Amino acid sequence: MLEVIDHPVIQTELSGLRDRDCPSREFRARVRRVASLMVPAVTAGLETRPIACETPLEVTSGVELARPVVLAPILRAGIGFLDGFLDLLPDASIAHIGLARNEETLQPEPYYFKTPPDLGDAEVIVLDPMLATGGSVSEAIRQLRDSGATRLRFACLVAAPEGVKAIESEHPDLPIFTAALDRCLNAKGYILPGLGDAGDRIFGT
Ligand code: URA
Repeated sequence: MLEVIDHPVIQTELSGLRDRDCPSREFRARVRRVASLMVPAVTAGLETRPIACETPLEVTSGVELARPVVLAPILRAGIGFLDGFLDLLPDASIAHIGLARNEETLQPEPYYFKTPPDLGDAEVIVLDPMLATGGSVSEAIRQLRDSGATRLRFACLVAAPEGVKAIESEHPDLPIFTAALDRCLNAKGYILPGLGDAGDRIFGT
């Protein structure tokens, strides 16, 4: 279940992110803005429940999200994608998932996993700016499911068709949201045209 969020403001920001000369300071700010702009699409359809609202004039009916939201960035680049989501979902809790990509095998190697309790009751949104081979995302989803999560979504900035295919075959019910579906992966597992190493560009490494 793939949704490409094709919005003119998001696409303008993304074009700035692709520019090889975009400095880290600007890159971080743009990632944050795109993340925020993606939130309405990524959270569409979350269940709400009715609440009473007391305005200065009378009592009316309102709503609140029915379940807590957990944002689950995959370290390290997911951290750079987190703030824009938190800006619009300030009550969310954070699950940290440490997966390093082995640059030779391209396989994810787990090194950290810490989540809030009661994942079973939460809406979990997994964050990683780049969906390349799909290995890290698949592993993150597996770990979260093993820890009780049942309501999961995944959001990225740029996806490769290879990664989408891998996720769709391993987790066919996972909604995937991306700002762009790019052409393919190169031999080193980088997305083309892509935007390079998102973690390096966010953190200036
Ligand atoms: N991770 C990145 O940061 N960039 C890519 O192109 C692929 C994986």
